[in-house]
Amino acid sequence: MDNKELIRKAIDGLKYSYAPYSNFNVSAVLVTKDGEIYTGCNIENAGYTPTNCAERTAFFKAISEGVRGFEKIVIVAGKNRKVEGMTAPCGVCRQVMMEFCDPKTFKIILAESEDTYKEFTLEELLPLGFGPGDLLEG
Ligand code: THU
Repeated sequence: MDNKELIRKAIDGLKYSYAPYSNFNVSAVLVTKDGEIYTGCNIENAGYTPTNCAERTAFFKAISEGVRGFEKIVIVAGKNRKVEGMTAPCGVCRQVMMEFCDPKTFKIILAESEDTYKEFTLEELLPLGFGPGDLLEG
């Protein structure tokens, strides 16, 4: 799938976002190095803190099925399931990406339409990130 198709899939996924409290809908499409796709939406909760972001939903779906090795993630968001502007991942999601992705090569695509998007590496969005490598011995 090219970026255009991935963005279209992300926009389509906004319909699954469960966000009755913020009414801010987020959808993500995660692409593995093998070209497999895992989708995710934000899932809110009346208790607020159990809320899960779209990006982490996509990651946890993949990780929980044994998948490793990720190439990129496409993110779209806006109120009332309509994409508005570009939305960057929250700090917690960036940290989860840091756990499973190479910050120099993993790409984060923030889209506002099929044709308008910006691409960043994880390192650009999380400079000097702390990751698994920092806990290696020696
Ligand atoms: N949200 C995401 O899904 N991803 C982000 O990176 C930013 C925030 C969700 C969480 C919550 O459901 C809503 O957006 C408002 O914060």
